[in-house]
Amino acid sequence: MKRKKIVAGNWKMNTSWLEAFDLATAIKNKSEKIKGVEKIIFPPFPFLQMVKEIVKEEGDFYIGAQNCSEFQKGAYTGEVSAAMLRSLGCDYALVGHSERRQFFNESSTQLIAKINQAIENNLSVIFCFGEQLSDRKNNSHFETVNKQLLEVLSYFPKDQLPKLVLAYEPVWAIGTGETASPAQAQEMHAYVREQLASIFSKEDANELSILYGGSCNAQNAAELFACADVDGGLIGGASLKAEDFCTIMSSFS
Ligand code: 13P
Repeated sequence: MKRKKIVAGNWKMNTSWLEAFDLATAIKNKSEKIKGVEKIIFPPFPFLQMVKEIVKEEGDFYIGAQNCSEFQKGAYTGEVSAAMLRSLGCDYALVGHSERRQFFNESSTQLIAKINQAIENNLSVIFCFGEQLSDRKNNSHFETVNKQLLEVLSYFPKDQLPKLVLAYEPVWAIGTGETASPAQAQEMHAYVREQLASIFSKEDANELSILYGGSCNAQNAAELFACADVDGGLIGGASLKAEDFCTIMSSFS
């Protein structure tokens, strides 16, 4: 199987209802002719259904939730379950984003529970990981990433791998305008694929898409996506501009 090429837009806590409507409509219209890439939008929860309505006719367009509850259902005020997300037509859930780890103290145990909930409810998962600037400065970035992968993916049954996509997002590059160089991205992605081969198998590792995230934009996407082990991008800021986001979708060589 050939690895999927994916460009996903994480809108984070941005847009009003109207802005989300306009942005999703513009992205859908501008990207109609772009083929061979899976397109995913992660809008805020309240706009998921509306964005789904806008993109649902497009075969290669998917929507995802930026988070899902680790619990199945019941008295968990404010939580949104994977079952709810699936019932409104969601395809993906983001799990392990560094902002969730940092601001909401999400632990690996919670991330495992979230992934299980997502998969049980037939959602695919984009699992995010990445080192802090301090890790890179003291040369422990591989160790940090390996720990994040092992702590979660070792609990992930092999038969569920088709539901998994990975996203390497170095924290120092998120929202900072500073991007990993193509060489840095390739080096880490190749390392991640090696670790995946030892957790699962070489064949499995070769079939998993690994996205890069962190100040990826319309100018640098092509050189990042040209790297052998970079299978697309998880885009923050630049996914809020329809033109830029669609340029990124067409940046595969
Ligand atoms: P930026 O593209 O804004 O750096 O955000 C990356 C990100 O966190 C995507 O999930």
